[in-house]
Amino acid sequence: MIKVVLIGQGMVATHFAVGLERLKNGEILDHGIPLRDRLSYKYSDIEIVGSYDVDEAKVGRSIYEAALDIFDENIVPKSLKDVVIRRGIHLDSLKGLPFKARGREEGRNLREAIEELVDEWKELDADVFINVITTERVDPFNDLKKLEEAIDQGKVSASQAYAYAVALYAKRVKPATFINAIPSPIANDDAFVELYTNSRAVVFGDDGATGATPLTSDLLEHLYERNRRVLDIAQFNIGGNTDFLALDVPERNLMKKKTKSGIVEDILGYHVPNYIRPTGYLEPLGDKKFVAMIIEYESFNGFRDEWYIVARINDSPALAGLLVDLSRLGKIAVEREAYGTIYSVNAFYMKNPGPRNSKAIAKVKAYDLLLEWLGIDDERYMQSKQSL
Ligand SMILES: NC(=O)c1ccc[n+]([C@@H]2O[C@H](COP(=O)([O-])OP(=O)(O)OC[C@H]3O[C@@H](n4cnc5c(N)ncnc54)[C@H](O)[C@@H]3O)[C@@H](O)[C@H]2O)c1
Repeated sequence: MIKVVLIGQGMVATHFAVGLERLKNGEILDHGIPLRDRLSYKYSDIEIVGSYDVDEAKVGRSIYEAALDIFDENIVPKSLKDVVIRRGIHLDSLKGLPFKARGREEGRNLREAIEELVDEWKELDADVFINVITTERVDPFNDLKKLEEAIDQGKVSASQAYAYAVALYAKRVKPATFINAIPSPIANDDAFVELYTNSRAVVFGDDGATGATPLTSDLLEHLYERNRRVLDIAQFNIGGNTDFLALDVPERNLMKKKTKSGIVEDILGYHVPNYIRPTGYLEPLGDKKFVAMIIEYESFNGFRDEWYIVARINDSPALAGLLVDLSRLGKIAVEREAYGTIYSVNAFYMKNPGPRNSKAIAKVKAYDLLLEWLGIDDERYMQSKQSL
């Protein structure tokens, strides 16, 4: 079994919980899960054992009750009544947003709150932790001593506190994986990678690669391989979920800009003027965001072409599908004792793959790297390989 703890019971976590249970019940097909049934762990091996949030409207309710805010009653599996949303660590991650939030660290030392979490996780016997809290403003430490000092002083972000708690848990209780699906640099922070390597822990990150960004990376690879010179890229994202509401706060948006625009130079090898980031919040769009993109490039003999791409994309289910893979890969990674972070996994699933300074590559390339790490052959190419 793979026992999973969700941190941040919002749209993504709820889509993950509902989709996973429906998948296990045979109610839906596994579309949107890249590795399908090709791993040693099956979907039925994944069990959600815990959930954390700091929004007063969620803490104390079950995932089932929280899911009724998003889904029709007939769709939400009753098994989700068994998992109650517990109070997490806040550290002001929801500050400035229209939610009433309280964390268990308030009025006391952060280390005490972290110790309490570790004890709870021991009881839950957790293997994998998924971080899908609201996008926050975070700077990396890149120095383990500085990270330890900041934990002592309570001067870390919520994701950093959770990531630290998971390392402590892994060291003391059992090897574990932290999946950082949000932009906060954790797999890109040398301090965390060192801590995880020494603590029998694995971190995947950072920032789940869904929506227009992975598509852009593959389109850029296509242009690179054909030696077409990209002149400019404009990409807009407008959505109506609370993630987009949070990204309306400039410093949170900056985190996304950082994880999204780095890909261009990494893939093409030269700078291209670009604007790639979430641009706005429009409530009626809900979770189905609007994406528009223009890529202008120069072709043979100086001719200029343009690509126009327009899409409406369901935001949260896209990441939720990836998390079904990442939960299983988290367990496989600790079994292999591949502690620290794993580029071959991050490069495919993350927008800003750790460790620090590693390059973003096109997802079509990263897919091959992932299969290689897993020792899985892509059956579609077996025949052409054999004929060589
Ligand atoms: N396709 C995608 O939707 C996608 C892709 C990549 C990354 N992400 C990231 O996933 C995260 C979640 O997205 P979402 O749409 O579910 O957002 P959401 O706002 O619906 O959910 C976030 C949840 O986290 C909770 N939270 C905030 N601070 C917390 C804390 N300190 N401890 C515990 N819980 C806390 C909030 O109360 C909320 O319930 C965002 O950071 C987003 O950037 C999403």
